[in-house]
Amino acid sequence: MADLTRSEFGPDFTWGVAHASYQVEGAWDADGKGRSIWDTFAHRPGKIRDGSDADMACDYYHRYEADTDLVGELGFGAQRFSVSWPRILPSGTGRVNQAGLDFYSRLVDANLERGIEPWLTLYHWDLPQALQDRGGWTNRDVVGWFGEYAALVAEHLGDRVRNWMVFNEPCSFVHGGYLAGVHAPGQRGLHSALAATHHVNLCQSVGAEAVRAHATDPNVGTTHIITPMRTAEDTPRHRKGAAVIDAFANRIFLEPNAGLGYPVDVSPLIGRVERYVKPGDDAAVRVDWDFIGVQYYCRLLVKPVPVPGLWGVPWLSKDHRRFDVSGMGQEIQPDGLYESLQRVHDLPGDHRLVVTENGVTVPDRLVDGRVRDVRRTAFYQDHLAEVARAQRDGLPVDGYFCWSLMDNFEWAEGYTARFGLTYVDFDTQERIVKDSGHWFQSFLSGEAPGAADSTAVAS
Ligand code: FCB
Repeated sequence: MADLTRSEFGPDFTWGVAHASYQVEGAWDADGKGRSIWDTFAHRPGKIRDGSDADMACDYYHRYEADTDLVGELGFGAQRFSVSWPRILPSGTGRVNQAGLDFYSRLVDANLERGIEPWLTLYHWDLPQALQDRGGWTNRDVVGWFGEYAALVAEHLGDRVRNWMVFNEPCSFVHGGYLAGVHAPGQRGLHSALAATHHVNLCQSVGAEAVRAHATDPNVGTTHIITPMRTAEDTPRHRKGAAVIDAFANRIFLEPNAGLGYPVDVSPLIGRVERYVKPGDDAAVRVDWDFIGVQYYCRLLVKPVPVPGLWGVPWLSKDHRRFDVSGMGQEIQPDGLYESLQRVHDLPGDHRLVVTENGVTVPDRLVDGRVRDVRRTAFYQDHLAEVARAQRDGLPVDGYFCWSLMDNFEWAEGYTARFGLTYVDFDTQERIVKDSGHWFQSFLSGEAPGAADSTAVAS
């Protein structure tokens, strides 16, 4: 990696940082904002590891100008953010909160004034609570609600925002929120998850159409977390287990939009999604994406469990010692990013590829005003090398976004997992650029990249 340079990725490659409304904005009830399912969930005792919430988070709602300055100072040309649905439609539909729209309008302008491209995600998990009260993603009416919301955002910002993502990681919020119950709204059940899956897939297409109808010359995509599977042993039982988990984690979210339908033959459990599919849906769910955002954090190791009829539980092989493990127990395997890009490229369609999230949490320590996050820098170097390899092999990868600009509220992990290039002191809201942020700054400025500072104490 030592000789990798920015120029290798080409002059038109997009270099960005990503974050999301609920994780950074704070101002949870300011200026007419409605409640989101995450406001409700985080306020419930016992749901967040450190008992925290994102009422304040990074206070980005009030600090977005300085934070956008920081994006530019680090040398990035793009900032990916999401719009909070209840900030602009407090009840989810109907009455518009003009102050909320004005905030995003100012944010877009703040980016453009600094020569930074705004990349807008319509939905990064903060559904209006008022809509959850009517069933949320399990209610098919959400297709209409989402269409109204998407059109509103595109009408107001589509004159200035060119790059759009409809969803952030459907798998994460559907399975976290409606299957496992560890994320908002905290429901558990296969059926709620399958209903939500199909409705989200329909909304992919409704959202893309709304953006294309209202925005000027948009570049329309969505994002998926791609989790490649490996097996502990290469036996038919193991392979079957991995196939089932792969279908649940990846295929049911990727394939219907690509015109491939649901992978119902893999498991009868997946076949149950069909009860939510209506005549005409197979066609309605198809989308021609301009790009698909690939988000990659780790592979999973699948082992079959010895329960008849139940194939495969994924778990992380922390015990294997074969891989470095992140602060959240995720194994660090950079070539999984290449595999993920290849896989999404292989789907039918002419879509280009953008890495819309990639990053790592390590136990950062602020010592004498400095965070020597050697492992994070190495993580980025190793993953960028895989992006470069993908490009050399002809994959159309156009951009790379770090998760994240700054430490923020990491969902059920609260503030215990820091992913930023910038350290945030959540008591004072001070931002301190970590060594990894400085590394990016010099990499993006075209200076010799250098290796991570190996003499520093690794965090
Ligand atoms: C992704 C999410 C993002 C953040 C990172 C660490 O799955 O999209 O909001 O939580 O993980």
